[in-house]
Parts: sequence; structure tokens; C-alpha cells
Amino acid sequence: MGPTRIAVFADTHLTDPNIDSQSLFPRQLAKLLPDTARRLYEHLCLSIAQANYEVLNNIVDFQSPMDMVIHLGDFTGGWQERGMCEQSLIDFAKREVYLWRYICSNLRFCLGGHDTGYTHPGSLPGSGMSYRSLISCAEIFGDLWWFKRHDDICLLGICSSVAAYTGNDPDLLCMRKLQENAVAGKIAELSNAPWILFAHEPFLPKRIRNLLKGASRTCKAFIHGHRHDPKYTKFFRALGIVTHDPFLRISNTCPSVAPLWWPGCGWMEVTIENHKVTIQNHQVPVPESIAKLPTASFLRCLWWMLRPG
Ligand SMILES: [Fe+2]
Repeated sequence: MGPTRIAVFADTHLTDPNIDSQSLFPRQLAKLLPDTARRLYEHLCLSIAQANYEVLNNIVDFQSPMDMVIHLGDFTGGWQERGMCEQSLIDFAKREVYLWRYICSNLRFCLGGHDTGYTHPGSLPGSGMSYRSLISCAEIFGDLWWFKRHDDICLLGICSSVAAYTGNDPDLLCMRKLQENAVAGKIAELSNAPWILFAHEPFLPKRIRNLLKGASRTCKAFIHGHRHDPKYTKFFRALGIVTHDPFLRISNTCPSVAPLWWPGCGWMEVTIENHKVTIQNHQVPVPESIAKLPTASFLRCLWWMLRPG
């Protein structure tokens, strides 16, 4: 039996070009003239989509087919920090997922806060995660948490937004409990089998971490998105922040595909063979049009993310 090859993507931030989605730097855009803001918004969204397709085409054209594709969340830019709660975004996300399934039908997601709705106080009225958004997410992206076996290694994907929910909505608390029960059950089933953990956010809430901890010794890798740049993992490790957390100690950031924070266009290849896990990050060439985006460097992006009141 040959190796199992998995392509991992994260933080594509495919954003509905409708400026009402307010998913990209809403405060800065609000300071511009409406027409200028609308045009810039469309330009950013379409350029991000273009970058994604270029990365995907590179992989489809030049690599042998992958056994599995995992997307580690922030697949979309969401809608007003409320996730999948607007038909325009739901239709947009369905269309994009349909295109991704052409690349690999064995496609799994570990969704992020933009997809589900924020789990921290947002800056827009009505922001937050809702049951409606999670149900739409499940319909569009499939299971919010999942478990797969490949070559005697178990893959466990969780939804860090559901795990981090701290509100009082009984439906959302029920979802959180369902995920915790499923994770506890799978961890018990593992016995001593090696496994890999996948999630959007690197910092997992205590409740879910406690459930996972029992099997941390056999966890081969924790692969997450959210930080957009793998350099951040090295930076935090150098600061000693990750020393005591068994999962952060073996964590790897999947590079972002989207040209946000820095000229992105990266993806991760995970190879499993004879119980060994090899992780390799790939950077693909950044097209001129994307490198010039007003968000395509750390400092430029920081400026756009600063949110004057
Ligand atoms: Fe992101």
C-alpha cells in the first residue's frame, strides 16, 4: 500500500463580492466614498478568488491526485461577522464548495469563525454564532466534526468555534455537547493508535483540550489554520508560549491561500506512510495583481484592520 497524501488548505476567505457582507475591513471601507468602497471591495473579493483558483489549478495540474483534501476554516469571509445567515452568502458558499469538490470529492472542513459566526465580541451589530448559521454550515460543508482512518492513523477534525461557544443559547450548547461527546467517544476508541488533530484555531478551549489530553501522547501532529502564516507558529514557540500545551507543542500552521496579511498562496501537504507523518508547506508564485493588493503585506493589512470608532 502506497502513502496517503492529504492536501490541507486554510483561510481562503472567499468573500461574497456584495459589499453588504462587510467581511473585509468594514470600518476602513466606510470612510471611503460609497462607489469607491464598492469597487475596491469587489476588486479585493475577486482577487482573493483568483488567488485561490491559481493555487488549486497548480495542484490539480501538476501533482498526482490527493487521497483527501482538508480545509481548515475561514473558507469564506462570512456575512457581517454572523457566519452563514444570509442567502446571498449561502448561495455563494455552495457554488465555491461545488467547485472544490471537482478537485477532490473526499473533502472535509474544520470551519472557522468567519464561516460559523464569531465566538468573541465582534465589531458589527448582531455579530456572533447562531444555530441557523451552524445548520447552514452543516448543509454546505458537511459534518462539523469528523473522524477518519488512513493507513492505521486516525484523523480527528473538530470545529473550534463550536468548542469555544460560551453563550446561553440552548441549541448551541447542545451542539457543543454533541461535539464533546463525539470527541470523547473517539478518543476512547483510539486506545494506543496514532492520530492527527485538525482544527481552525490553535488555542483550543479547556473543555475540549481536557477530553483530548488523555491521548496526547499518541497525537502525531496538531494542524490548524487561523494564523495565515506558518512563521507565527515558530515565533510563538520561540517565545516559549507553547511549551506546556501538548497539542501546541506539536502544532503546525497551514499557510493561507488568500492574499491577506502577507502575499499568501500557500498550502500544506501531509503524507502518511508506515505510521510516519511528514508535513511540507508549499508556496506558490504570487501573481502581480495580487501582490499589489492594499492588504498584501503585514503592515498594509494591519492598517486596514485598525478599526477607528
Ligand atoms: Fe482567517
